Amino acid sequence: MNRLEGKVVIITGGAHGIGATTVRLFHQHGAKVVIADIQDHLGQAITKELGENVCYIHCDATNEDDISNLVDTTIAKYGKLDIMFSNAGIVERPSGSILDTPKSDLERVINVNTIGAFLAAKHAARVMALQRKGCIIFTASACTSIAGLSTPAYAVSKYGILGLAKSLAAELGGCGIRVNCVSPYAVMNSIQGLSEVEVAKGEAIMSAIGNLKGQVLRAEGVAQAALYLASDEANYVSGLNLVVDGGFSIVNPTLIMARDRL
Ligand SMILES: NC(=O)c1ccc[n+]([C@@H]2O[C@H](COP(=O)([O-])OP(=O)(O)OC[C@H]3O[C@@H](n4cnc5c(N)ncnc54)[C@H](O)[C@@H]3O)[C@@H](O)[C@H]2O)c1
Repeated sequence: MNRLEGKVVIITGGAHGIGATTVRLFHQHGAKVVIADIQDHLGQAITKELGENVCYIHCDATNEDDISNLVDTTIAKYGKLDIMFSNAGIVERPSGSILDTPKSDLERVINVNTIGAFLAAKHAARVMALQRKGCIIFTASACTSIAGLSTPAYAVSKYGILGLAKSLAAELGGCGIRVNCVSPYAVMNSIQGLSEVEVAKGEAIMSAIGNLKGQVLRAEGVAQAALYLASDEANYVSGLNLVVDGGFSIVNPTLIMARDRL
């Protein structure tokens, strides 16, 4: 069971949603987990709940000093960094056209999602290169695999992450560092502020639209995919965009729908 025994992990955006679920799963698998987020009360509550081997550091993913301090504090506390899971992210809004996207919205989403990922990787690589070993995982999105799932601004931010991951897989492979993305389809139970009824309604809609029937993608499913990428079972996997979408992005359902109508 202990697939991450003794590993030291940083999870940005670890105070809520997919990040928080991954904190719990990685901790369960024996990792020492550092939660990095801006929602201090939520991050500290998880630390209190899990106790040993979990700590919280306030860190705005867009602030290079915060990220640098996060990595340095982790090294000072645990002596190494095995896994950086750069997961912090925002949506500027659920839907909308390029025509009504203010430049400030584009800048905001790129700042958190893409620049935040870049800084997390930069400072993780700084210490992992000395160790000649490490693993960097980004949360991108299934919108990197098929169009129409997100706003254009969000797609720009997540394609940026995918480009970054591939570029770093090439650059850092020589230092023994693996770099991958996990790219989820819609996850309703991670969205902050939704009631149980709204989550259930959203899951029903996304499952009806989705390709794989009889399953619902939840934060737990994304955390399991991240666990695989983080674990030694993936020790030769680098440069992968692990799309967790039940096959949604590789199926064009129009033929199936037309056949069913006839
Ligand atoms: N929920 C989905 O449907 C979905 C689908 C594809 C990809 N994603 C991606 O998954 C990741 C996690 O999203 P989620 O659904 O769990 O949302 P969430 O809002 O529950 O979690 C995001 C976390 O990131 C933190 N965060 C935001 N800005 C930050 C910053 N500047 N610095 C540090 N932390 C910051 C938030 O406080 C929060 O804890 C994001 O990158 C998101 O884009 C989500």
